[in-house]
Amino acid sequence: MDLSAIVADIAAEMADAPDRGRPADYIPPLAAVDPNRFGMAVIEADGTCHLAGDAEESFSIQSVSKVFALTLALGAVGDQLWKRVGREPSGSAFNSIVQLESEHGIPRNPFINAGAIVVADILLGRYEPREALGELLRFVRAAAGEDGIFIDENVAKAEQDTGFRNLALASYMRAFGNLHHDPHVTLGVYFHQCALAMSCRQLALAGRYLAAGGVNPTTGRNVVSAQRARRINALMLTCGHYDGSGEFAFRVGLPGKSGVGGGILAIAPGIASIAVWSPGLNERGNSQLGTVALERLVQRTGWSVF
Ligand code: DON
Repeated sequence: MDLSAIVADIAAEMADAPDRGRPADYIPPLAAVDPNRFGMAVIEADGTCHLAGDAEESFSIQSVSKVFALTLALGAVGDQLWKRVGREPSGSAFNSIVQLESEHGIPRNPFINAGAIVVADILLGRYEPREALGELLRFVRAAAGEDGIFIDENVAKAEQDTGFRNLALASYMRAFGNLHHDPHVTLGVYFHQCALAMSCRQLALAGRYLAAGGVNPTTGRNVVSAQRARRINALMLTCGHYDGSGEFAFRVGLPGKSGVGGGILAIAPGIASIAVWSPGLNERGNSQLGTVALERLVQRTGWSVF
């Protein structure tokens, strides 16, 4: 199988795709990104890297960061985390508030916004706000084996100025006692986490521990146990695309986490870590062409977990 040719072919096909979706417009800097960008990076278990299109271009990883924040929070408090966050798909939009009322302020899973805000709050139980972001940056840089990963202050500021739904979610959970810090402080961490800027290559590098049974292949050290890596992958498969998770499992069949910046991290356990980026989103807020590209990759490689 000529993986480099497969990845190059998919990028060429995506360049011509007529239906590219629409970039997120509720965070102003994301609305300004050129919808014609497309990047893809596939890193095999042995470290072989296949890049195509704009794979070296930095973009806002947004909700893909929820995978790294969850890993860090599980490392800090272990399975206690699950007292404050569930593990079920929500079947609702990523920013929905409705289930919180009947479910006592406990978000369905750590990948919807409410769940990720609780995860940020859990990090604040261990670290000061700046320290929490420093730890997150250190974690992602170490996982990728690269220092050139940063937080885009402009994007974080834009979310702080416009993130009223997130403020509602955080305040509502605080009223239920499931947020332990000032909602503005917790959201400061959450917004900066979402503003992590990475390229497809860096994102695929950072995801390798999930494809390699919890081990960072560069250092040979365990980032998480094999069991925890399996469980994070399970959550990505069932909850990583919000109310589009079933559709993503049906079409792609890999654990995946999307972000409204148009990025998706997908994991073929034991085989490869994959990142795609195309800023246009479908109606569920997941990258339109990113999903098509992953669907084609899996069709041509047979990498579905099913
Ligand atoms: O909180 C928000 O709305 C954004 N920072 C992240 C949302 C997101 O990426 C959802 N993904 N599809």
